[in-house]
Amino acid sequence: MPNIENLITEINRLKKDKNAIILGHNYMEYGVHLVSDFTGDSYDLAVKAMRTNADIIVFAGVYFMAEQASALNPDKKVLSPDPMAGCSLSDALDVETLKKYKKMYPNSPVVLYINTSIYTKALADYIVTSSTAINVVKSLDADVVLFGPDANLANYVEKKTGKKLIRVPPNGRCLVHASYTKQLVSLARKKYPNAKLMAHPESPLEILEAADFVGSTNQMIKYAKDSESKEFVVATEIGMLNALQIQVPNKRFYPFMSMETCACARCPYMAMVTLEKIKSSLVNEKYEVKVPNDVAEKAKRAFENTMKLLS
Ligand code: 13P
Ligand code: SF4
Repeated sequence: MPNIENLITEINRLKKDKNAIILGHNYMEYGVHLVSDFTGDSYDLAVKAMRTNADIIVFAGVYFMAEQASALNPDKKVLSPDPMAGCSLSDALDVETLKKYKKMYPNSPVVLYINTSIYTKALADYIVTSSTAINVVKSLDADVVLFGPDANLANYVEKKTGKKLIRVPPNGRCLVHASYTKQLVSLARKKYPNAKLMAHPESPLEILEAADFVGSTNQMIKYAKDSESKEFVVATEIGMLNALQIQVPNKRFYPFMSMETCACARCPYMAMVTLEKIKSSLVNEKYEVKVPNDVAEKAKRAFENTMKLLS
């Protein structure tokens, strides 16, 4: 197995030679953070993808993220180090189901979470992320909104906005966050009595109600930096500890659920993206993510609608 330093050196050389950048999601393994030009949450990385001058974007995250970057940048080469890196939320909603709901609620705007396939995004009015969903839904001139596929995020947004959200489908879930229980909150509070509990809005409502802070992965980093507290329990995918330790080195972070207690503390899809695959992706310029023009244009419009609403 090549050693990590050699891999990092080689990846950095390839990036320079090919005018490429690496966008890394906050959940990536430690080494991937070190080679990434930008790390961030889903919204931040999508915006970064729109603003780069690089010729090649390697998206170190799951497939729907690379697909989104490609739709936003039809003229650039967008590479996914492993196109099999899926997402249980993205898998939960297909085009036919969405079309059926749109027919049932013709007057309701369609707000889709970014964790969806580009073909469903093309049927949406707004694409939101965990950092933007509440503000977008709040600002819509509609009391009933079609929202999918994350039912936990829907519960949270509904609570925060007072609007009625029709869940499309009724029970889409992230396989990591869906496994969180109230019991884990009690254990964490007991084990780390001085720590603040941060939770991602893909978690069940009972976890969010018990948390000291709820936010996207980027919002968690900001909260940890700004907070007077020195310790935090992190109720999201365990790779997030890498982002926090790198960006907030003077504070301590504890996993809400560890690999010893549950294999699903680590998203199996995020874990598929490794330094080896990133290197291979740059060497062979694979796997290129291409979205049909008409689909890309519609999905891009839905993302830009969100940007406009928030500006
Ligand atoms: P954010 O990074 O946007 O908070 O979302 C996390 C996620 O679900 C990635 O799969
Ligand atoms: Fe999907 Fe959950 Fe994995 Fe994120 S952590 S990619 S939402 S399965």
